[in-house]
Amino acid sequence: MNQNQMKQAVAEAALEFIRPKLENDTVLGIGTGSTAELFIDALATIKGQINATVASSEASAARLKSHGIPVYDLNTVDEVDFYIDGADESNSALQLIKGGGAALTREKIIAAVATQFVCIADESKLVHTLGQFPLPVEVIPMARSHVARELVKLGGDPVYREGVVTDNGNVILDVFNFPIPQPLAMEAKLNNIVGVVTNGLFALRPADVLLLGGVDGVRTLYPQ
Ligand code: 5RP
Repeated sequence: MNQNQMKQAVAEAALEFIRPKLENDTVLGIGTGSTAELFIDALATIKGQINATVASSEASAARLKSHGIPVYDLNTVDEVDFYIDGADESNSALQLIKGGGAALTREKIIAAVATQFVCIADESKLVHTLGQFPLPVEVIPMARSHVARELVKLGGDPVYREGVVTDNGNVILDVFNFPIPQPLAMEAKLNNIVGVVTNGLFALRPADVLLLGGVDGVRTLYPQ
């Protein structure tokens, strides 16, 4: 099984995970990225049972709408029952690095609202210590150099993601060479840098369950 087949398998497993729990008023939060796209396409096979979604990016909203799946503004729904999204890395506590697709801010907002965050990923994403994947940080454009200097003080090597503007009109700094043994403390520290909109650490609000695709099938992991 290659990585794409593992992503396909977890997308289908996520559909089976939520399908028995769907009710008429269920609101699904939908993530961003290649694994989330496969989930959206799987969701389309039962679209008659999906009455409301909220999307973490314009791209995911467009894909949902292309299938005829209703997409709502987050402000118009009272709650989000399940948030289904991929990740760039997860540790065993299901603390994540996200934002490889530059959608981290809206992803973090929906994850904060969601009752249950279902993360879907292939097994290459499971790591012992977060930070092998460069940590994305969304930044107000005029603060880019200031935030980069602060990130250097914290020990990282920030690199401006050229040519990328987020759905919120901001820019991304990817922080390389930045192992994160204490994700909770680091997430809070990064949030305190003036000019940072969001950082890609999802530790204060980790995933509740991880569906992890491997060569032998999909495993269901809970925080350790
Ligand atoms: C987008 C994300 C994605 O969930 C993350 O980048 C994983 O993407 P993929 O499913 O393509 O591997 O955080 O901002």
